[in-house]
Amino acid sequence: MIIDALLVVFGGTGDLAHRKLYPAVYNLYLSGLLPENFALVAVGRRDKSIQDFRSQVMESIREYSRNKVEDIDKLEKILARFYYYKKDFYDSQGYERLGEFLKDLDDSYKTRGNRVFYLAVAPEHFGPIVERIHSAGLAPNGKESWQRIVIEKPFGKDLESAARLNEDITRVFSEDHIYRIDHYLGKEMLQNIMVIRFANTLFEPLWNNKHIDHIQITSCETIGIENRGGYYEGSGALRDMMQNHMLQLLMLTAMEPPVNLDTESIRDEKVKVLKALSAMAPEEVARNVVRGQYGEGVDPDSGDRAIGYRQEDRVSRDSDTETYVSMKLMVNNIRWAGVPFYLRTGKRLPCKTTEIAIEFSKPPEVLYFKEFQNLQSNLLVIKIQPREGAFLQFNAKKPGARSEIIPVAMDFCQNCTVDAVSADAYERLLYDVLRGDSTLFTRWDEVEHSWRFIDSIAEAWDKVSPSFPNYSAGSWGPDEARVLIERDGRIWRDVCDYY
Ligand code: BG6
Repeated sequence: MIIDALLVVFGGTGDLAHRKLYPAVYNLYLSGLLPENFALVAVGRRDKSIQDFRSQVMESIREYSRNKVEDIDKLEKILARFYYYKKDFYDSQGYERLGEFLKDLDDSYKTRGNRVFYLAVAPEHFGPIVERIHSAGLAPNGKESWQRIVIEKPFGKDLESAARLNEDITRVFSEDHIYRIDHYLGKEMLQNIMVIRFANTLFEPLWNNKHIDHIQITSCETIGIENRGGYYEGSGALRDMMQNHMLQLLMLTAMEPPVNLDTESIRDEKVKVLKALSAMAPEEVARNVVRGQYGEGVDPDSGDRAIGYRQEDRVSRDSDTETYVSMKLMVNNIRWAGVPFYLRTGKRLPCKTTEIAIEFSKPPEVLYFKEFQNLQSNLLVIKIQPREGAFLQFNAKKPGARSEIIPVAMDFCQNCTVDAVSADAYERLLYDVLRGDSTLFTRWDEVEHSWRFIDSIAEAWDKVSPSFPNYSAGSWGPDEARVLIERDGRIWRDVCDYY
């Protein structure tokens, strides 16, 4: 059940709000999933009239919404509930005035004091804003109303800063009112991983070290760092993608079945996967983790020349920030003992794809695996994006008089038809915040354990200067990444969808 509420977006004039949040609100409205009593307040530092704000939101919705604007009346109806409030995030007194503004809206929209505070701002503002929300009494969290907080990533830049931030937030909001966003969890196919695994007889009995040879998790991007140099310099691919999105993919792939489908049971099983990762000693990092940074090359989307990372705006000319990471890791529990997981993510790679590939072990070398050379293993690929679906490869006889065996596939694609555009991740996540379901958000101990693992890599890296750049834009990353997997007698999958 959705409860009436005000959505208060700090950073309401920013990129994230315009590209993701406002189109998501619009699409929820079209699907009838917004509460009856609802209004949105964008809090920003710029001077702006409500009319200007609404026409900018209208433009963003036209540009970024998955549902195109067909009924202008509907768009105007929802825009009439969008408000703009100019405010410096650090001006404490201003929060009381904001409180009065929200109260007036509560009265007009019958939202009864229920509020979602969405922090779509740079991470250094998280703590101070929460503190001021608290001091001004905007989040009483009493019996008559609730207030929730949504925190965008990055949640800290290491375990220590994440713990500090968490303390700041939990002083004001209890864990069940904190929604730490990892937008990958809102993607359709991430939610489908558990269904594929646990709602079928076919896969789960084979989902272990007796039948799986190894697993590859890839999330590659064609874009560079665009205009985010300022942020990315302090982050790099390890913190920007590995600590959150990639480890979420790992957790969902490797977790044990939860005892039931409630929020905490699922999160409990996910955390256990992180606990089964050992922090890496520096020699293990040197052997099992590869970092890279793109130099000049080709923009894979346009085919034009692309500048190197060090030439990007707001990036140091001798930057050691990595734009690529691949690693081999082991999940140290009974199910996965001996099965390597290979993870890779990077910018300026040949295509934009996210997928999980499960390669099953080869059968014993008798019968066909003895008689025929180069037979392929069974493979299940869960395709997250841009294609959404699952692909199962197995061996079959090639039709004809000659005895030949070829790999064939069953291929399920859920977004291949034009009218099957999946909801954007933010739609699902906003909807869940409004109805108070935090299953698709990150619990504190997930953040904590993921940083513990990631910190061990970052600390080892700090001690050694990399020789960057070490891959050309548009290529598959540094050569060491190829060596990382080939020394185990395996190769990286060609993950690009050529459809
Ligand atoms: C964000 C990262 O969290 O995820 C970006 O900060 C990255 O650097 C983006 O580009 C990738 O998301 P998606 O949904 O396009 O795969």
